[in-house]
Amino acid sequence: MKPVNVLVLHGPNLNMLGSREPEIYGSQTLDDINEALSVKALSLGVEVDFYQSNSEGQLIDRIQAAAGEHSAILINPGALTHYSYALRDALQASGLPVVEVHLSNIYAREEFRRKSVTAPVAIGVISGFGAMSYLMGLEALAEKVKDE
Ligand code: DQA
Repeated sequence: MKPVNVLVLHGPNLNMLGSREPEIYGSQTLDDINEALSVKALSLGVEVDFYQSNSEGQLIDRIQAAAGEHSAILINPGALTHYSYALRDALQASGLPVVEVHLSNIYAREEFRRKSVTAPVAIGVISGFGAMSYLMGLEALAEKVKDE
């Protein structure tokens, strides 16, 4: 059987984690989060690949390339969450199961962050648990994909 391989995507500004508004996003860097995801992936028996971009187009290119390569997508779209119909279309067109995660609770923040245009094409959303959002998202996705 082909191993479950999850593509983990990080959107704009997430490369700045650690120094970016730590009171909101925590003190862990993106490398710390990826490392924690790798450890979790091992315990779940899934493979993970990571990609971060500040560019909407590059994220879309990566999603388009994911179809043959990956079984599922775990994504924190950053601010693109709130307005990128192009990203949403790419996620939907990939046909892959998607889980959306956010470090902060987007529903407890500014008005413009309370809407996710990408969430409707995801299986589910985990928001507000810091780096743990990613770990819970990976676990949920792995369970879902293994069941199928
Ligand atoms: C974020 C929330 C977004 O509103 C913000 O633009 C981000 C990070 C989060 O993980 O909490 O860049 O997706």
